[in-house]
This record gives sequence, structure tokens and C-alpha cells, in this order.
Amino acid sequence: MRLKDKVAIITGGANGLGLEAAITFIREGAYVALVDYDSSGSERAAELTAQGANVEFFQVDVASRESVNEMVTAVLERFGKVDVLINNAGITRDGMLTKLSEEDFQKVIDVNINGVFNCTQAVVPHMITAGSGKIINTSSVSGVYGNVGQTNYAASKAAVVGMTKTWAKELGRKGINVNAVAPGFIETNMVLSVPEKVIENLKKQIPLQRLGKPSDIANAYLFLSSNESDYINGTTIHVDGGIVM
Ligand code: CAA
Ligand code: NAI
Repeated sequence: MRLKDKVAIITGGANGLGLEAAITFIREGAYVALVDYDSSGSERAAELTAQGANVEFFQVDVASRESVNEMVTAVLERFGKVDVLINNAGITRDGMLTKLSEEDFQKVIDVNINGVFNCTQAVVPHMITAGSGKIINTSSVSGVYGNVGQTNYAASKAAVVGMTKTWAKELGRKGINVNAVAPGFIETNMVLSVPEKVIENLKKQIPLQRLGKPSDIANAYLFLSSNESDYINGTTIHVDGGIVM
């Protein structure tokens, strides 16, 4: 029980990596606020509650500051505190630079950068008052080494690393650890919507020669949320089968 009685907000918790993280955190004793703009998160939360979990779904667009602030107030009312924030919600709108619309560029920035900023700024005052907290941001292999067709997404995920380091410096003295996880190519809807020939080509470039599983990332989130990582701050853990070295 590495997260016994800890309260965790997991954004993008209705699907993929966020849902896997929620299941993992609940297994480790956490109370989970499942945050997503996809209403199916309500069914996922109901299923987990039926299995005995202490979980509540909040339908929120992380790009909306107002909704995020309301969500954090509601989480505090329900659970009394926030120990962990997993800034996992994210989107892609892939396109080659020459064809990428300004709208698709901005949409990715709004969710992947502003969403992380909004959630962190809403939660941090409460962590400062508590004198402790763990914030984990989700970057990507694309933000580290670039990726064809991902101008917007790579920019946003590089920004996540910059924000992580800045907040680690600002908040360390307040007892708050801020770190990032940079997943490689993991089997979720986000990757499975990529053309098959691109995936096959990718696998050849990964030293482990396969895509990652959602549990590979959930385990990294868990480590960075637990006391086992108390002296780790401002770092990015790469969970990518070795595609970036
Ligand atoms: N490396 C080098 N060249 C590439 C390439 C690659 N990975 N992908 C495409 N190209 C080349 C093509 O061969 C093509 O070359 P020519 O013009 O000489 O024929 C040119 O770039 C244009 O490619 P497309 O014909 O595919 O162009 P398109 O406009 O139809 O589609 C695209 C562009 C939408 C970006 C499409 O290629 C695509 O979806 N690519 C996958 C992008 C990708 O990897 N996304 C990752 C999603 S998973 C994720 O984001 C999670 C994470 O954090 C990693
Ligand atoms: P996914 O598409 O399966 O899940 C993303 C979740 O975020 C969805 O439930 C979606 O509804 C939610 N979401 C998107 N925009 C939102 C918003 N504005 N407000 C609230 N919720 C929103 O994707 P996946 O793979 O689970 O991705 C999770 C995170 O991991 C993302 O930040 C992604 O960029 C990142 N990542 C994923 C990789 C992969 O290979 N799957 C690789 C590297 C990073």
C-alpha cells in the first residue's frame, strides 16, 4: 500500500494511461479524483466504486481555468486534501508543418500546456499549506527528440519539461516534489490511431522492439507519487523502451 490514504487527482483519467494509473493508485490505497472531459469517466468511476474503490469522477476540460478551479474546490470538499496531482490529460492534432492549421496548433497548446498550468496552479496553494505534495507531469518522447508531424505536440511536451524544472525549483522548499514522465510509444488509443506502417517502422527503432503497456507508465507515476521518490525533484523519467538515450 504505497499510497495509503493519499488523495490523487488524475487528469485524463477516463481512458488509457490515466485510467490505468487510477486502477494502480486505488490498488495502492489511494483515493482518486478521476478528471476528464469524456463523460465515460463516470461509468469507469462507477465500476471502480462497485469494486470498493474510493473514487469520484469530475467532468472537466483542463483547458478551462474556471472548471479546473471548481473541480479542485469540489475535490477538497469530498476528500479534504490533495496529496498528488497527475497532469496526464493530453491530445494530439498531428500534421506536417506545411499543412498544420493555426487552430490545431493552438488546441494542442491549450490542453497540453495551459491544462497543466491550470491544474497545477489550482492545487499548489493547498499543497503549500499542507507542506507536502507530489506533482507529476506527462511529457513525451516527442518533446525530447521531436517527431515528424508533431510540431504542436512536441512543442507542448517540451514545455512540460520546462515547467517541471521551474516548479521543482520554486516549490521544493515548500515540501513539494515536481517531476515528469516522458513515455515513448504506449498502447493506448492515442498511438493506435497512428497509421499501421508508421507503428511498424517505429517498433524497429525501439531497442526493446515493441510498444509499451499502460502499466509501464502507471508504475512510473506510482513511484514518483510514493515516498520511495522523496529525494527526486525536477527530473524526467523516460519510459520508452530505450528509443531516446
Ligand atoms: N519520418 C520521416 N518522414 C516521414 C515520416 C517519418 N516518421 N512520416 C511521414 N514522413 C514523410 C512521408 O514519407 C512523406 O514523404 P514524401 O512527401 O516524400 O512522400 C511526407 O513525410 C508526408 O507524409 P504523409 O504522406 O503521411 O503526409 P500526410 O499529410 O498525409 O500525414 C501525418 C502527415 C498526419 C503527420 C501522418 O504522417 C501521421 O499521422 N504520422 C504519424 C505521426 C506520429 O508519429 N504521431 C505520434 C502519435 S502517438 C503520440 O503522440 C504519443 C506520443 O507522445 C509519442
Ligand atoms: P488517451 O487519448 O488514451 O487518453 C487521454 C485522456 O485525456 C482521454 O481520456 C481524454 O478524454 C483526456 N483529455 C484530453 N483532453 C482533455 C481535456 N482538455 N480535459 C480533460 N481531459 C482531457 O491518451 P493516453 O495515451 O492515455 O495519453 C495520456 C497522456 O500521455 C497524454 O498527455 C499523452 O500526450 C501522453 N503520452 C502518451 C503516449 C502514448 O504513447 N500513449 C506517449 C507519450 C505521452
